[in-house]
Amino acid sequence: MKQFKLLAPLFALLIFSNCKKSPAAPTGLVTEKAMVVSAREEASKIGSDIMKKGGNAFDAMVATEMALVVAYPFAGNLGGGGFMVYRKADGEVGGLDYREKAPLSAHRDMYLDSLGNVVPDMSTVGATAVGVPGTVAGIIEVHKKFGSLPLEEIMAPVIALAEKGVVVTENQEKRLASQREKFIEINGDSTKFATEYKMNDTIKYPALANTFRSIAKNGRDGFYKGEVAQKLAAFIHEKGGYITEEDLEKYQAVWRKPIVFDYKDLHIISMSPPSSGGVTINQILKMMEPYDVAELGHNSTKMIQLFTEASRRAYADRNYFLGDPDFVEIPYDKLLSNSYLEERMQSFSFDKATKSSAVEHGNIEIIESMETTHYSIVDPQGNAVSVTTTLNGAYGSKLYSDELGFFLNNEMDDFSSKAGVPNMFGLIGAEANSIEAEKRMLSSMTPTIVEKDGKLWMVVGTPGGSTIITAVAQTILNGYEFNMSMQNAVNSPRFHHQWLPDMVIFEPDGFPSDLTDELKSKGYIINEERTPIIGKVDAIRVLPDGKLEGGADKRGDDAAVGF
Ligand code: GLY
Repeated sequence: MKQFKLLAPLFALLIFSNCKKSPAAPTGLVTEKAMVVSAREEASKIGSDIMKKGGNAFDAMVATEMALVVAYPFAGNLGGGGFMVYRKADGEVGGLDYREKAPLSAHRDMYLDSLGNVVPDMSTVGATAVGVPGTVAGIIEVHKKFGSLPLEEIMAPVIALAEKGVVVTENQEKRLASQREKFIEINGDSTKFATEYKMNDTIKYPALANTFRSIAKNGRDGFYKGEVAQKLAAFIHEKGGYITEEDLEKYQAVWRKPIVFDYKDLHIISMSPPSSGGVTINQILKMMEPYDVAELGHNSTKMIQLFTEASRRAYADRNYFLGDPDFVEIPYDKLLSNSYLEERMQSFSFDKATKSSAVEHGNIEIIESMETTHYSIVDPQGNAVSVTTTLNGAYGSKLYSDELGFFLNNEMDDFSSKAGVPNMFGLIGAEANSIEAEKRMLSSMTPTIVEKDGKLWMVVGTPGGSTIITAVAQTILNGYEFNMSMQNAVNSPRFHHQWLPDMVIFEPDGFPSDLTDELKSKGYIINEERTPIIGKVDAIRVLPDGKLEGGADKRGDDAAVGF
């Protein structure tokens, strides 16, 4: 508390000095009017071209999301779900939840055997792991509410891409090779991805093109009813899964009020539950707000300590309190109040690490899949959309419908199968996220939009499971506190702490050993082996002259395209 009081008078000065800094010169792609940044150039280009033809950011979202199914089947999807946050040019903001949900037949103990033990693989691999897909409902809902071009016109280049095919990159060759045996195990050896695709091969998707045609012609009914729905439900049933035609027909995307809060002179808009992203990033940044973060120095010992301790406390709350708001009561007023967050940080000191065991709600561990994808869009009118979408694991459940041309998610694993038992990513769930029929599983996806001085300033998000939230927060801090260009803010090495396991995870080679040694001496457990990368951020910054700078993450094949 003492630190808060001491720092409070510095606040106004701090905001003032941040306002006065001249903005960093761009180092990423700069365009005049419009931009899409996504995991693949093909998808960014299709989205950008739609805007060139007169479409808005929402039309471009539909096109980009669908193009990623073709160009980035690792996470781009028809068989998964996601979240979208938007800010229209007039300042109106909103969020769309098209997260998968549990089928009607789902129940709390569905992944337990007769002795009450979790059945290995049942919620992670194959048809039993599949939640009711939300992606098509999501894009159709966006198009219905905000679209300006006919759906068939938006889908035409996507169908053409599926027919013409996409060239395999080096990264994609590695990703496909690493999962090939699983694809065969789940789908048999005549499945499309039993083929050993090599770099520079072209993969064509004629079956997917047909499914796209059905969606282009009939909208959501082209997926959730009729031939596609019948084939999909029959396929999942034949493979032993639970999703029925009724589940598909009943699926609805839901418009949700986003989480909005101020951090110094930024106004941040992020996704609300059933994603934990907005609440957790709100908690982290508000716990950091009383400090002169810029003065601490970028990725300095003290900055890492402050960020880590705020994250430790925010993640401790995350899984205990959060779940599908249509099923559980979430105490937003408490979790997001200044007094609660100040109280949470009272035990923080720069002298030594807090132990996670000393932070409340110490029985939940969160480690999630890293395989998701994010794209950011700004259109010539100034509308912005920030979208994160996923199949959960790499290629989801690995279940691939050769007849319909797409992978199905394994999102059921984002529920807690049994309190106290970790899922495939080590997640130990709480009651708020237990399985119920038609409930949505908790997510970490954090599509975010940031305003500065009342104007659109940044559109940002990333894949990375539980590391999504910290990667988005660090990208915003890099741009705001450390005055980096968008591309440099994205490139910058990242670190992560999620309360349990009680370790700070660093991207290898990004941090000098004297820094990690100093943190160790203060009681932090350091892990540089756990993951080669943290997140793959795709973001856009609006420059003072109104031009756009893209930040396409160099960690992947990501690309910014615009005009
Ligand atoms: N499946 C990853 C997430 O929703 O956060």
